[in-house]
Amino acid sequence: MTILLFGKTGQVGWELQRSLALLGPVVALDSNSTEYCGDFTRLQELAETVRAIKPAIIVNAAAHTAVDKAESEPDLVHVINAAAPGVLATQAQALGAWLVHYSTDYVFNGGGTQPWKETDATGPLSVYGRTKLAGEHAIQESGCRHLIFRTSWVYAARGGNFAKTMLRLGRERTELTVIDDQLGAPTGADLLADVTAHALRQVQIQPELAGLYHLVAQGETSWHGYAQFVLETARARGIELAVSAENIKPVPTSAFPTPARRPSNSRLSTEKLRTAFGLHLPHWQQGVARMLDEILDTH
Ligand SMILES: NC(=O)c1ccc[n+]([C@@H]2O[C@H](COP(=O)([O-])OP(=O)(O)OC[C@H]3O[C@@H](n4cnc5c(N)ncnc54)[C@H](OP(=O)(O)O)[C@@H]3O)[C@@H](O)[C@H]2O)c1
Repeated sequence: MTILLFGKTGQVGWELQRSLALLGPVVALDSNSTEYCGDFTRLQELAETVRAIKPAIIVNAAAHTAVDKAESEPDLVHVINAAAPGVLATQAQALGAWLVHYSTDYVFNGGGTQPWKETDATGPLSVYGRTKLAGEHAIQESGCRHLIFRTSWVYAARGGNFAKTMLRLGRERTELTVIDDQLGAPTGADLLADVTAHALRQVQIQPELAGLYHLVAQGETSWHGYAQFVLETARARGIELAVSAENIKPVPTSAFPTPARRPSNSRLSTEKLRTAFGLHLPHWQQGVARMLDEILDTH
């Protein structure tokens, strides 16, 4: 049961290389791969890659994720986030393969205070959100067997992330200002990868579980709450910081104007996923604390 993984060097792709290895041989590609094409801007060659490998499962962790940059290059973002997943879906349908894909809370308009359900109306505010939604639709319309996981605020120990930025700023500055009117759940790439492997195993037995699911860690916070947790956890681990707890100041989104609009309410309801797959999802603080243990060791 060969698994074809795209976007192997991204946050989620890196963790998928580990979790998918338990299911079968994995062919993992990125945009620089040479033997096979893993570049999402070369649609014809992408289709040829799938036809040559004939995987039983395709997992797509590649995407244009630079939300602000996306506003100035919408055509390129559409190719990567919508047209390429559509090509994978068409090929998956032709092969009878499963396709796993990741999407985002940015498909919603961010209104209200309730966690979004899979059945709620979408209304993306940005090029990134619109193209990710178009990618979902292309997969659903292809008729291929698929799992789409919408997630939010993804972090990983590897590469840059919000926690590392806060740790650096917390060492350098005596005062920090952090947005407190966007609410969501920081979600580890390792959790996404582990749930993906679990779900893929389950759908081999229960193919009727195919579909769209929201997948985030439990609980909710703001970027300000996230920063406070990161810095106080680091302080408790003996890291010396210039900023005091009371000098991590909450500010509204309007304090940091950006090209792309971001949803205020990024909460996602995971009830459908937990019920369908019999899963317990850990609290976001558990995963972030673990990631901090990992990165603080190496500093
Ligand atoms: N990060 C978040 O907070 C977040 C939130 C909600 C949903 N998601 C979704 O979760 C999934 C995984 O995201 P992530 O956080 O792992 O993203 P990431 O770390 O930015 O990784 C994205 C990967 O896509 C690759 N990529 C970009 N352009 C490509 C192209 N033309 N051809 C092939 N590969 C290309 C990147 O490779 P290069 O670096 O070589 O370009 C990178 O390896 C995505 O579908 C994303 O939309 C992410």
